[in-house]
Amino acid sequence: MFLKTHCLPLFITLISLFSSCFCIYREDPFHIGFRQGHAYHRPRTYHPYFGTFGFSNQRNYYNPNSANLFNYNNEIWSRLDTARAPVTLKVDDFGALANGRDDSEAFKKAWKYACSSSQGAILVVPQNKIYRLKPIDFSGPCKSALVLKIYGTIEATVDHSDYKKNRRQWLYFDNVQNLRVEGEGVINGNGRTWWQKSCKINKALPCQEAPTAVTFNECINLRVAGLQIKNAQQMHLTFQKCVNVQAFNLYVTAPGNSPNTDGIHVTETQNININNCVISTGDDCISIVSGSKNVRATGITCGPGHGISIGSLGARNSAAYVSNVIVNKATLSGTANGVRIKTWQGGSGYAKNIKFQNIVMHNVSNPIIIDQNYCDRQKPCSKQVSAVQVSNVLYQNIRGTSASNVAMKFDCSRSFPCQGIFLQDVALRPQEEDIAEASCSNVRLSYIGNVSPPCSS
Ligand SMILES: *[C@@H]1O[C@H](CO)[C@@H](O)[C@H](O)[C@H]1NC(C)=O
Repeated sequence: MFLKTHCLPLFITLISLFSSCFCIYREDPFHIGFRQGHAYHRPRTYHPYFGTFGFSNQRNYYNPNSANLFNYNNEIWSRLDTARAPVTLKVDDFGALANGRDDSEAFKKAWKYACSSSQGAILVVPQNKIYRLKPIDFSGPCKSALVLKIYGTIEATVDHSDYKKNRRQWLYFDNVQNLRVEGEGVINGNGRTWWQKSCKINKALPCQEAPTAVTFNECINLRVAGLQIKNAQQMHLTFQKCVNVQAFNLYVTAPGNSPNTDGIHVTETQNININNCVISTGDDCISIVSGSKNVRATGITCGPGHGISIGSLGARNSAAYVSNVIVNKATLSGTANGVRIKTWQGGSGYAKNIKFQNIVMHNVSNPIIIDQNYCDRQKPCSKQVSAVQVSNVLYQNIRGTSASNVAMKFDCSRSFPCQGIFLQDVALRPQEEDIAEASCSNVRLSYIGNVSPPCSS
């Protein structure tokens, strides 16, 4: 409650107090320390709310018929130089037409100007318009804090040859500090043609990457809020190598049968809060993979999809490290998994200090699962001795229904058993009339309060 009613507005108005938002984590029994955020300094001159410094008196500021774009560019430059408050720019001012043709060049120019502003900039994507973009890099570092306000719709081009240079990404934000991307707008990956070419849909085709709709790479002090992200080519929203992230009020949707369309993917990212998001896709609702630490997801609604996942970890004998994850207040409906930790045989490293609490399951196939024999490929995976160590995991107040007979499954490694697994007040019953049971192998379990079903062995 504190976080919601006080902390977030505080963050909005006084970003310099940002790291104090993490104060509440100190109570955590696993000593989850989110305070590393202090190491990152942000400029004191950041003014998140600024008066609009518009161009309303600049009628000729953009003339689409003008061949010489540098006239208005110069004007913007002089405004940027003299303004004391952040400048508001519209993508339309840079030639975006939202007429069904490609608007990438206009967005690139707009970003370049906004990013070069020394007193901060608000870049607006106006509402009631659809802008079409090819893959595009929004790169930093920027001179000062930047806000991208998306009110309209941004749609991906569907020509796959546009992605020749890099099939992995569509909208790519790279190396930006103090960035906010927000608004009630829509980001549409137009993924259908990519899904059709997936080897998961058409087994005759080779397995190939498809673009992530929105990637934030190496961003520090990032806020992503209010957007609707839909029909991604592959994953919807990825935070990669970021530090200090607030992601909230996001609405992520794709059909339940769309392949690999994870909702929010967290990789090598530290200090991230994901709040109040609704995610319905064809793959993981939230996936948290190696190098991620201090991850908190609160108020998450999932389904359809594959549920909330830590992993997969340790693929191809890799070392993986995930720690300090809290998933609190989630509702999962009709998902293939509820809360899952999945690791491949042959990996190393750890997944530790993890809490799943206050979670409601509606007809979830595997409500609670740790799978250390995860294998997501066409050939079966061979037996291997080493494993990513899973330890210190608390499941607290988890209730609802299981679509399968196995409501709880701990399929842990024989050589690296799961350690310190706590089940507190768990009540999972079958959706249909059968019995629900728990399957437990190579796991050290502690029960607190009422736990149902208990392990049969
Ligand atoms: C529960 O899930 C199963 C399998 O996913 C599905 O076949 C069934 O119709 C669902 N039942 C309800 C009541 O939603």
